Amino acid sequence: MTGARLLGLGVYRPARLVTNDEIAQQVDTSDAWIRSRTGIATRRIADAEETTAAMGAAAAEKALAAAGLTADSIDLVIAATCTSPSQIPGVGPQIAYRVGAARAGAFDLNGGCAGFSYAVSTAADMVRGGGVRQVLVVATERLSDYTDWADRSTCILLADGAGATVVGASDTDEIGPAVWGHDGSRHEVIQVPGGDDNLFRMAGQSVFRWAISLVPTVRQICERAGVAPEQLAGIVPHQANLRIVEALATGIGATNAAVARDVVDSGNTSAASIPLGLASLLDAGRIRRGDPVLLFGFGAGLTYCGQVVRCP
Ligand code: UT7
Repeated sequence: MTGARLLGLGVYRPARLVTNDEIAQQVDTSDAWIRSRTGIATRRIADAEETTAAMGAAAAEKALAAAGLTADSIDLVIAATCTSPSQIPGVGPQIAYRVGAARAGAFDLNGGCAGFSYAVSTAADMVRGGGVRQVLVVATERLSDYTDWADRSTCILLADGAGATVVGASDTDEIGPAVWGHDGSRHEVIQVPGGDDNLFRMAGQSVFRWAISLVPTVRQICERAGVAPEQLAGIVPHQANLRIVEALATGIGATNAAVARDVVDSGNTSAASIPLGLASLLDAGRIRRGDPVLLFGFGAGLTYCGQVVRCP
């Protein structure tokens, strides 16, 4: 059986930067409150042209270039998204078309904010199984389409963006076992109810407490990968809230790891937040190709998924 690894990474950040002060002109909040409770200073909000498909394709093209591959070498496109503009059709085929992955299969995967980790794990196991050699994994989100701009508990958090990687066959196996799970009994704590209320709703405190309680699960990801937390070069939890990111990194004792804090600049971009966070560490030179990095997504479902990967 062949191994699997991440061959390249690409991201797309919408042009428009929205500050906390701008949000404080719409709802009763303040820059100080948002920074102290969430860590967020700015977030990116997409314009009409920056659709989930357009942002995803832009990130995918960069990932292909970073991997030194052309689109015709891609066997499959998996779009990890929970903010597709419509239920039908999916975004995956549109991204495949836009990048020119003419012979690829394409589908969407909705793992909420854990979608990127689920998609990487799915792609890696498909590659190891031998059915495909190169899979384009694209996480793309436009949470602004589902944001209630009058709800100060959520509009301060949500943002837009995309990140992509290529999972490819390799002599070395560089994508560790996934640890995943769910608490579907509490699916209502993060939801877009639908019908008359097609906007993002969240019981923030319940989600916060649940996220913090996942420290033992994150430790388990290291155990399954055979990497001690202090050996991690980087840790990229879902960028939901800086307090959660830091609690998870500190909680497992990742003492030597560069911790992704992209939420400060980019807000919460759901499934896109892990590749965006990984790119922020790479771009800053805080991690390098081949370094062991822990990825951990958690959110709507409730569901979570994570793995240790070697940095692309
Ligand atoms: O991506 C999916 C996963 N999502 C998450 O992991 C998010 C997890 N949750 C959170 O990040 C936090 O719970 C929030 C940032 C959403 C909220 O922070 P909190 O510290 O849990 O605040 P809270 O909900 O306990 O609210 C405390 C107070 C309330 O006022 P009262 O009832 O004490 O008078 C809220 O009304 O803060 C008030 N509040 C605000 N005040 C100023 C809520 N939002 C705001 C705001 N500005 N934007």
